[in-house]
Amino acid sequence: MNFEQTKKFLQDKGQEGLLQYYDVLNGEQQQKLLSAVGDMDWSFEDALKNPEDLSGVGSVIEPIDGLKIPQIQEQKEGFFTVGKEAVQKGKVAAVLLAGGQGTRLGSDAPKGAYNIGETKPLYIFEQQINNLLEVVKSCGAYVPLYIMTSEKNHEETVQFWKEHHYFSYPESEIAFFKQEMSPATDFNGKIYLEERYLPALSPNGNGGWFSSLRKAGLDKDMQKRGVEWINIYAVDNVLQRIADPVFVGATILSKVNCGAKVVCKNRPEEKVGVLCLQDGKPSVIEYYELTEEMANQREKDGSLSYCYGVILNYLFRLQTLNEIADTKIPVHIVKKKIPHLDENGQKVTPETENGYKFETLVVDLVRHTGSVLPFEVEREKEFAPIKNKTGIDSVESARELLKKNGVEL
Ligand code: UD1
Repeated sequence: MNFEQTKKFLQDKGQEGLLQYYDVLNGEQQQKLLSAVGDMDWSFEDALKNPEDLSGVGSVIEPIDGLKIPQIQEQKEGFFTVGKEAVQKGKVAAVLLAGGQGTRLGSDAPKGAYNIGETKPLYIFEQQINNLLEVVKSCGAYVPLYIMTSEKNHEETVQFWKEHHYFSYPESEIAFFKQEMSPATDFNGKIYLEERYLPALSPNGNGGWFSSLRKAGLDKDMQKRGVEWINIYAVDNVLQRIADPVFVGATILSKVNCGAKVVCKNRPEEKVGVLCLQDGKPSVIEYYELTEEMANQREKDGSLSYCYGVILNYLFRLQTLNEIADTKIPVHIVKKKIPHLDENGQKVTPETENGYKFETLVVDLVRHTGSVLPFEVEREKEFAPIKNKTGIDSVESARELLKKNGVEL
């Protein structure tokens, strides 16, 4: 689209504010702005016009049954044997979700590049690879690793892994791919400008990981390798057990399409998605969409009725992902602090939430798989998320847990 076409297009959408600095831009910047508008994902408009109620209110919500720690202990050997065989035969791949922004840590740098070491450098990426190498050792085979980045951190992430020699994981087993971006708006749905020539864009949530992987052609690579199961995991948990053979074996033997590692929630307001049955279907309700009543509901013995908190470690059957690849998943409207230019063209970094980001979430993909195995793990051994600078789920709390697990910092 040329300038006139773009102007008309944006006027029709009520977004002509994006062109307010057009006249003072140089030729290159003008071109950048026009292509940014041309490439824009406009699905947020529909999400704003017809916001979906994603709290589960109105549907029948029930607690879900899963494999509890004592049951897993009893069957551990059998699960391990099946899982190990799958890893050895190259049927298991891992996908690291690292496209998010570390906004809660107050940094735009890739989160995995954060150094959690005390007496020596130990990066989050490195610690996760160390965990994966334990599996490689016990199974005698490498697990192919696909790393999702975003426009905001791709170059930096790739460079970081290269500089650190892939933390001694074979480079041939690692591939990177980028997720897509979506616009960020004010509370009236007007897209913010990040620069005079650049609309405010941010990663479009972790729900699009499989479509981004396909766009990058990496599903073909998986097919070639004979991959049948994909273990996706979050970058922020330094105790993440990746391609855990016991979990893989339990999921395969349960004949479900998706395994989900869960911990018993430690308080009603813990910021984890809750696995439950929604109208008879296994679903995850995100913590910021959970009603207070549901969060606080208790069983007769005092335990939380909705106790299974997901730790963002899922094992998906690849065939199922292919089958549901074209199914539409909802766009969540999330209130965030969005840096932008004010009416005088000055950069503003807000202290409080000032608008919306639009994200699809992996939890919605889980629902579409149709059958899910909740697999309970010990939080002290497998869940040390780094979300905040200090306090709960922080660098400090993660360090403590790493030390408890014998990791030298
Ligand atoms: C996430 C989970 C939540 C779970 C909790 C456990 C989702 C939607 N939420 O919540 O169910 O209980 O972790 O700690 O899965 N990411 C991308 N691209 C994006 C956004 C995020 O790759 O556009 C990645 C992040 O880099 C990170 C992971 O997804 O690895 C989780 O992202 P975040 O948005 O921080 O999720 P939480 O709100 O902590």
